[in-house]
Amino acid sequence: MVELSIRNVSKVYETDGKSVPALEDVTIRITKRESVALIGPSGCGKTTLIRMIAGLEKPSSGEIRFHGKPLAGPDQKIMMVFQSFALLPWKTVYENIELALLDRPEDERRKLVNKYINLIGLQGFAENYPRDLSGGMKQRVGVARALCREPDILILDEAFSGLDQLTARNLQNEILRYYQNKRMKPDVLLLITHNIQEAVYLADRVIVLSHRPGHIKADMRIELDKPKNMRDRRFQDYVDEITSLIT
Ligand SMILES: Nc1ncnc2c1ncn2[C@@H]1O[C@H](COP(=O)(O)OP(=O)(O)O)[C@@H](O)[C@H]1O
Ligand SMILES: [Mg+2]
Repeated sequence: MVELSIRNVSKVYETDGKSVPALEDVTIRITKRESVALIGPSGCGKTTLIRMIAGLEKPSSGEIRFHGKPLAGPDQKIMMVFQSFALLPWKTVYENIELALLDRPEDERRKLVNKYINLIGLQGFAENYPRDLSGGMKQRVGVARALCREPDILILDEAFSGLDQLTARNLQNEILRYYQNKRMKPDVLLLITHNIQEAVYLADRVIVLSHRPGHIKADMRIELDKPKNMRDRRFQDYVDEITSLIT
């Protein structure tokens, strides 16, 4: 199904003759369909870790394996959505999504782009340019662009933190509703956040990283009935537990 194995991974950046340890001895195994939130204080190495998972960066030590093989570089089955949207301003919504599929024949591209425009709530916006879209709609384009490759793993790096709370919650609910359809890719949602409520709300499993250099402080299952209710006592207990781990 899906197998991502991060084994004893550390990362040290060398800048201006100084060594900056960003991550220390991180081990995570994901072997089934689940949503995983990675949470930790700012600067603890979250982006560093997922850039390594996305094949954009190499570990200083340790190993990342995907489907049983060492990860050698970016893999089309692992897609990432950025906080900054990363849309091309001179291309329409349709064209921005299509960029992810340039290696596919045109009829297949058209089918996939239209499918994800509809699935992710962008109907009627295909011909718009990014400048005409709200932040929430821009981020939908980023999500649709990543999803249309039908990856095994979808990584969202603080993808909601540039949005106001209501817009963020709407988009999160849409992604959850979509993800609950177990026949659809991705198998794994990997969410990076520094918002504890967001982590407990979105994830089946929460991994807590320490201050820099990040190492794993806790790796816990969130055993709550779905749809999750933030007012539930047990929801708050998880939030409190994670809060005390971070502070
Ligand atoms: N390309 C880089 N070169 C040097 N240092 C970096 C680089 N990227 C990140 N860092 C440093 O590594 C640490 C972790 O950064 P990052 O992974 O972005 O943290 P987070 O995403 O958790 O906020 C920080 O101290 C940051 O300044
Ligand atoms: Mg980051």
